[in-house]
Amino acid sequence: MKPLRLLLTALLCAAPFSAAHADSPGDYVPETDPLVVRKLEQWQDWKFGFMMHWGPYSQWGVVESWSICSEDVEWCKRPEGEAYVDYVKRYEQLPTTFNPVKFDPERWADIAKDAGTKYVVFTTKHHDGFNMYDTRQSDYRITAPNVPFHTNPRADITKEVFNAFRAEGFGIGAYFSKPDWNNDNYWSPRWATPNRHNNYDTRKHPEMWKRFVDFTHAQVGELTTQYGPVDILWLDGGWVRPTRNEASKDAAGVAWPQDIDMPAMTAMARKNQPGLIVVDRAVGGRYENYRTPEQKIPDEPLPYPWETCMTLGDSWSYTPNDNYKSSRSVVQMLVDVVAKGGNYLLNVGPDANGELPPVAVERLKEIGAWMKVNGEAIYASRSVAPYRDGKFRYTRLKDGTVYAIYLPDAKETKLPATLRIPGPAPAAGAEVKLLGSDATLTWRRDGDITVVEVPATLRKQTVNAYAWAIRLPGAVTSN
Ligand code: GLC
Repeated sequence: MKPLRLLLTALLCAAPFSAAHADSPGDYVPETDPLVVRKLEQWQDWKFGFMMHWGPYSQWGVVESWSICSEDVEWCKRPEGEAYVDYVKRYEQLPTTFNPVKFDPERWADIAKDAGTKYVVFTTKHHDGFNMYDTRQSDYRITAPNVPFHTNPRADITKEVFNAFRAEGFGIGAYFSKPDWNNDNYWSPRWATPNRHNNYDTRKHPEMWKRFVDFTHAQVGELTTQYGPVDILWLDGGWVRPTRNEASKDAAGVAWPQDIDMPAMTAMARKNQPGLIVVDRAVGGRYENYRTPEQKIPDEPLPYPWETCMTLGDSWSYTPNDNYKSSRSVVQMLVDVVAKGGNYLLNVGPDANGELPPVAVERLKEIGAWMKVNGEAIYASRSVAPYRDGKFRYTRLKDGTVYAIYLPDAKETKLPATLRIPGPAPAAGAEVKLLGSDATLTWRRDGDITVVEVPATLRKQTVNAYAWAIRLPGAVTSN
C-alpha cells in the first residue's frame, strides 16, 4: 500500500474523532522554564511512546467513558432500546465487578520495552471520573471497598504501572481527564446532563465551579506527590478551558467558561515535579507544551514539539476482535512522524483481566524487531530538509549523520538495486551503509542526488523489511 493510502486507511479506520480534540487554536507558546525546556528535548529524543486506556469500561469492551455522554454522535452509542438513565446506572456499577486478576505491569513494561517505546502514558482517570489510583478525593476509585480488586496488593494500579515502567527506564506520563462526569460539581445531579460539558453556568454558580477546581487541583496534587517522578501531565478534555463566551458558544450551546486555573495548577504541579511537561491538549497557550494531533499525521513538519497519538486497533480501549493495523503500516507511520519532527504515541487497551490482546502483543514484537535494527535512525533524531521525497523520509542526528529511510510499497519486497536519494550529500569518503548490515555501499553524487548501489546479496538478506534505513555520515554540519 502506498504511504498516502496507508495514511488515509489509518484515518478511515480511526476511532471516533471528536472535534474538541482538533488542533489547538493560536500560535504555539514556547516554554521558558529551563527545566521544562530540557525535559522537552529529552522527550523529543524518546520519539516512540506507549499509551494505554484502561478502566472498568474495558469489561464491556465499549468505548472509554463516552457511552455515558448524552450527545447524539457516533462515538457515544448505547444499546438500542435501553433508556439513557438505566444505562448510566449500569455503567456506574462497572467498578463493582472489576477484578483484573491478570494485572501484571512488569509484563506490560517488558512488551512495551521490547517494542522500542521509551515512555508510557496511562489513563489515571478518564472522563467517566473513575480513578485508576488511590485518590482521597473520591470514592469512585479502584481502591474503594466495593471494587473487588481493592484487596489485591497491587490495587493502586497507577502506582504499579508507573513503578514497573520506571524500573525499565521509561518516561512517565499521566493521562488525566479534566472533565469528570462522576463529580457532582461537574455534572450536577440538580440538572440533566445533555452533553460533555459541565451542566450549569459557572458564572451563576461560581461556588460549585470553585469546588470542582479545588477537587481537580487536589487530584493533580496527589498524582504529582504520591506516584514518584512524573515527566508528562497529559490533560485531556480540551473543552474545559477558560475562553468560552456568548460570542463563541459551541455546538452544544454552552457559553460559560470552564476555567480550571491552569496557572495555579501548573505552578503547583511543577513545584512537586520540577520540569514537568504539561500538555493542556487542544487548548493552546502556555500550558500546552506540545501539541497532540489525534489519529492523524500532519502533512508537513510542525515548527513546535508535537506527538501523534494513535490507536493500534480502531479503539482506544479494549474491544473484542479489534481491527489491528499491520506492523508495517505502524513502522511506516512512525518513520513519517519522526521525519516531520514529531513523536508517535501508540495506544493499546488492556482487557478486563489486565492482559494486552495477543494480536497487539504480536504486532508490538514485530515493530520491536524493526526498531532493534533501525532505532539508530529514530531515537534522538531531529527533522532535516527535505523531510520526505518520494518514498524517502529523512532524519538526522546531532553529529551530522543523516538517515534516508525508504518506505516500500506493499508489493515491494526488496530494496531497489540502485537508490537515488535526493537531498544532503554524505561527507566525502563517507562509509554509507544499510542499517543492519556491515557492508559498505558504493555511492556517488549525481547533482543533488546520492546514488547508492545495493548488492544483490544484501537485497536478498533484507527482504520484506517494513522500511530500510541508509546511513549517510556527515551529510549535514554537526550541531
Ligand atoms: C479521543 C477519545 C478519548 C481518548 C482520546 C485519546 O479524543 O474520544 O476518549 O481518551 O482520544 O487521545
